[in-house]
Amino acid sequence: MDALVADIHPPKGAEQFAADVIAGLSQPQKTLPSKYFYDTRGSDLFEQICELPEYYPTRTEMALLRDRASDVAARAGADVALVEFGSGASIKVHMLLDALDAPRAYVPVDISGDHLRAGAKSIAADYPGLAVLPVHADFTTQFALPPEVGDAVHLGFFPGSTIGNFTRDAARAFLADARRTLGDGGIFLVGVDVKKDQATLHAAYDDAAGVTAAFNMNLLVRINRELAADFDLDAFGHRAFFNDERGAVEMHLVSRKPQSVELLGQRFDFRADETIHTEDSHKYGTAEFADLAAAAGWRADEVWCDPDELFSLHLLRA
Ligand code: AVI
Repeated sequence: MDALVADIHPPKGAEQFAADVIAGLSQPQKTLPSKYFYDTRGSDLFEQICELPEYYPTRTEMALLRDRASDVAARAGADVALVEFGSGASIKVHMLLDALDAPRAYVPVDISGDHLRAGAKSIAADYPGLAVLPVHADFTTQFALPPEVGDAVHLGFFPGSTIGNFTRDAARAFLADARRTLGDGGIFLVGVDVKKDQATLHAAYDDAAGVTAAFNMNLLVRINRELAADFDLDAFGHRAFFNDERGAVEMHLVSRKPQSVELLGQRFDFRADETIHTEDSHKYGTAEFADLAAAAGWRADEVWCDPDELFSLHLLRA
């Protein structure tokens, strides 16, 4: 009995990708998990999205951080361990590290070992006196901070509005886990995209140059390549819209005609205009996000917005 149980492992890597794709395409509303956007090409396209004139979140958050880093530093005080949830937001981390008063440590946390090593190496090279203590973990769940962090103030940092890609329940659970990880004296700086007019949101997720469309379509390119599928790329298109009821921009891949697709020996039928739901990007009013954080054990210490109220930086205290 025990031997049988020990032999059952969850599928990993390619098998997990295949299992997730088949499960997603088998639902009445077909879906694909947005985490699979980020292969090499997808990560490159995402970097291009961040530079687009229509995609306001990145540059607005950068400007906010530039303006507010010294306020964050003043509130955090001296002897801080900066814990980055997900590693790689290098310029944004520099802004905080430059403003902090003698930070004790930088703790990048990432599930990708390669990503983590590269990020840690670059920060260590730029800040020779700083203890860089990478943690290889899934930052969406509770994890242990390295013992070297000791009694430093734990300042968590989760920029980019990545929290918007979680469901509201998952965002609350993530905030509660982060509260446990950062501990009783913990502080958490979270970048959150704000609800706004439909036209601005639509343009940000359906840009004129078609980069977001290529980012969305790349999921099918990846499935064709890695799972020997036969998606006809000309027969699908990109669609993005703000779903007011759900408070989220939805991205879909739309079948332009009735068609069938073969994938690992299984056939998936599409009606004309049927969609695959590929991403939700939730937007939060400032009070709405503060309430969500409060439900996860955080008190809103400060929230900063740009003058056009496009983006918010929430400073939370345990
Ligand atoms: C990573 N994440 C915060 C982006 C967003 O805005 O939800 C992903 C993205 N999807 C399309 N454009 C950008």
